[in-house]
Order: sequence, then C-alpha cells, then structure tokens
Amino acid sequence: MKILITGGAGFIGSHVVRRFVNKYPGYQIVNLDALTYAGNLQNLADIAQKPSYTFVKGNILDRAFISDLFKTYQFDGLIHLAAETHVDRSIKDSTAFLQTNVQGTINLLDAAGNTWRKAKGKLFLQISTDEVFGSLGEIGRFTENSPYRPNSPYAASKAAADHFVRSYGATYGLPYIISNCSNNFGPNQFPEKLIPLFINNIVNREALPLYGDGNFTRDWLYVEDHAAAIDLLFHKGSRGQTYCIGGENEWKNLDLARQLCHLSDRKLKREPGSAEKLITFVKDRPGHDKRYAIDPTKIKEELGWKTEIGFEQGLERTLDWYLENRQWLESVTSGDYQKYYLSMYGKKGTNQNQIG
Ligand code: NAD
Ligand code: DAU
Repeated sequence: MKILITGGAGFIGSHVVRRFVNKYPGYQIVNLDALTYAGNLQNLADIAQKPSYTFVKGNILDRAFISDLFKTYQFDGLIHLAAETHVDRSIKDSTAFLQTNVQGTINLLDAAGNTWRKAKGKLFLQISTDEVFGSLGEIGRFTENSPYRPNSPYAASKAAADHFVRSYGATYGLPYIISNCSNNFGPNQFPEKLIPLFINNIVNREALPLYGDGNFTRDWLYVEDHAAAIDLLFHKGSRGQTYCIGGENEWKNLDLARQLCHLSDRKLKREPGSAEKLITFVKDRPGHDKRYAIDPTKIKEELGWKTEIGFEQGLERTLDWYLENRQWLESVTSGDYQKYYLSMYGKKGTNQNQIG
C-alpha cells in the first residue's frame, strides 16, 4: 500500500502519520506538506527515520507537482488533511482558505481521478469538519443527513471542498469517503486554537481571552481517537459515504476554561484559583456558532469505532505534553506568532478587546 497523507506535519495529520507508520510498517507512507505556519516537522521527529516514511515538502496548489507526485508514486489511497484551519484567520482574510481548501482539494481530486477513475480498492479520504453543518440550538446533534449551512469562511471553504469530492464521485466514479469530525484537542496543536492557546497563556500568566459570554458549546475529541477513526474509515469505510465523528463530550467554553485552569494550577503547583483569575471576556467572534454536537452512531455501529482515550485522560495527557514540551511552545510562538497574537488580542495581558 502506498498512501499519500496531506498536511501530515500539522496537528491531526502528524498523529495520523505516526499511527500509520507505526501500525503498518509494510505500507509506504508519503507525507506531503507545505510547512505553513501550522506545519512543523518536529511533530514527527520520532518516526522521521523509519524506512516506510517519506516526507515531501510541497504545496497542493502546485498542480503540475501534484500530478507528477501521483505519477511517481502510483498511490493506492489518499488521506487529505492539508488545509487552512483557523476560523479567526478566515474571518480576517479568506483568500488562502479558498485557495488551499478548495483549489488545493480540486488539484488532488484531478490528480487522483486521472490515475484511479472508477478503480476498485483506491480511496480519496476527505477529512472534513462538523463546522460545515453550521450551528445547533440547545438540543439535537449533527448526523450524516444534516444539511450544510456553513457560517464562517473557513467552514464555507471546507463545505465547498466536500461538495467537489462528492461531485467527483458522482460524475467520474472517484472512490471517496468524507468524514465530518468535531473539535480535536491533544499534543502538537498550534496555540491559536482554544485549548493550546489557553495552556500557553496560563504558563505565561497572561489573559485567557474568552469570546462573548463563554456560553458556546463544542464537542471535544482527543486527537488519537480521531486518528483511530480515520484508520478504520480508510480500511473499512464504505465508498461514497459520509461519516460523522465526535466524542459525545460537550463543553461550554467557560466550563472547559475553568477545568483547564483547575488542572493547570495543580500541575504547575500554583495557588488554587490563580489561573482562573486570568479568564478575560472579550469581544465575540463574528458569526460565532453557538453549539456543535455530533451523533457518531453510524461509525460506531457500522465500524465498531469508540473513543479509547476519552476526555479526562486526554486533557491530562495534553496538559502534560505542553508542560513537558515548553521548547516546542516557545519555538512555535516566536516570530510571526507575536504579530498574529497582537492583531487578534492586542498587547499581551492587556486585551484591547476586553469587555469584562
Ligand atoms: P493544522 O492547521 O494543524 O495543519 C494543517 C497542515 O496542512 C499543516 O501542516 C500545513 O503546513 C498544511 N498545509 C496547509 N496548506 C497547505 C498547502 N497549500 N499545501 C500543503 N500543505 C498545506 O490542521 P488540523 O487542525 O490538524 O486539521 C487537519 C484537517 O482536519 C483539516 O482539513 C481540518 O479542516 C480538519 N479538521 C480539523 C479539526 C480540528 O479540530 N482541528 C476537526 C475536524 C476536522
Ligand atoms: O469543529 C471542528 C473545528 O474545530 C475544526 O474544523 C477547526 O479547524 C478547528 O479550528 C475548530 O474550530 P473552532 O472555531 O471550534 O475552534 P477554536 O479552538 O478556534 O475555538 C473553540 C471555541 O473557543 C469557539 O467557541 C471559539 C472559542 N474561543 C476560541 C479562541 C481561539 C475563545 O473563546 N477564545 C479564543 O481565543
């Protein structure tokens, strides 16, 4: 099996690459990544020398390069994770989201389509998000039948990409599966997303910027549980189907922030309650989706997937990893990160958007 994994140097991608390289030593795993601000080869240092692993630096926007890559390797399957992924960045400028998430996906579809059209046993596995479904009210959960109603430019670009994948299946017979997963957390997540951003700020005793009233709900899944679901889908999923993946683990942002503060005080041996004092309510995210929740019945019943690590253990592991890997945090928060942080949150510790 020769498998192309795009975005393998990023957060989820690095966990997927590690799982496949360690679990399937007979496979050839090619990790294609442009190494944007979110991609980091340090994430894969432990498996970089394995004979079945190859890293290729390249951009999915380069059509000729992608087409050559498919010709050279004759891949049996593709797990497509490369994307621009941060909602707040998409609100500031959606250009890169349209390019990478939509055009980049089309480039891969064309390259795969040209080599495998209607071929049995091949698979284009599109890793998508629950954000394509928009927002839920107080009750209900997203299922495979939920309509697409994206609210952020990021979600709109992922929705468009999913539609292209589906259309290549219907039009050209491309063998595909789409997965829509809820919020992931775990080691190696770039500290622009809620959990690693808050951990980094707690460590540095800086404000924890909570959007709006903090009563927005997300359904959290430990990243290795997502990687296990991707493994199952890749090997046993039904072609032409969509699968929803989620941890059945809803948290309001304020409650999650408090839980993280509580755990951090304990692990950092600080006075109980000291991290919570850093929570600062700031101006809300425009178009902020109120609640996400996934009903994962299909992948559980059809493929026997279940979470192995779960939330409590996952959060402990995550916090331990960030506290033990301060050098990783320091290296990814130097340079451009400071500029990004300033543009988003104002001067450190004195949030310009502070409302309470
Ligand atoms: P990430 O931002 O951590 O990593 C993205 C990776 O893609 C990086 O390594 C980056 O260098 C690479 N990349 C970006 N543009 C590229 C390009 N033009 N060419 C080649 N490589 C490029 O992302 P993540 O959070 O790990 O998400 C991975 C995938 O999973 C995305 O498709 C995302 O939409 C989806 N997803 C994420 C979550 C989540 O909670 N993080 C949940 C559901 C689905
Ligand atoms: O649901 C899956 C999606 O989860 C993925 O597709 C996205 O790639 C991923 O970024 C994530 O999107 P969210 O917008 O839900 O994640 P984020 O970590 O940015 O925010 C989580 C919640 O926390 C959300 O309600 C916004 C809030 N938040 C976030 C940040 C960064 C804050 O209150 N303050 C913050 O500083």
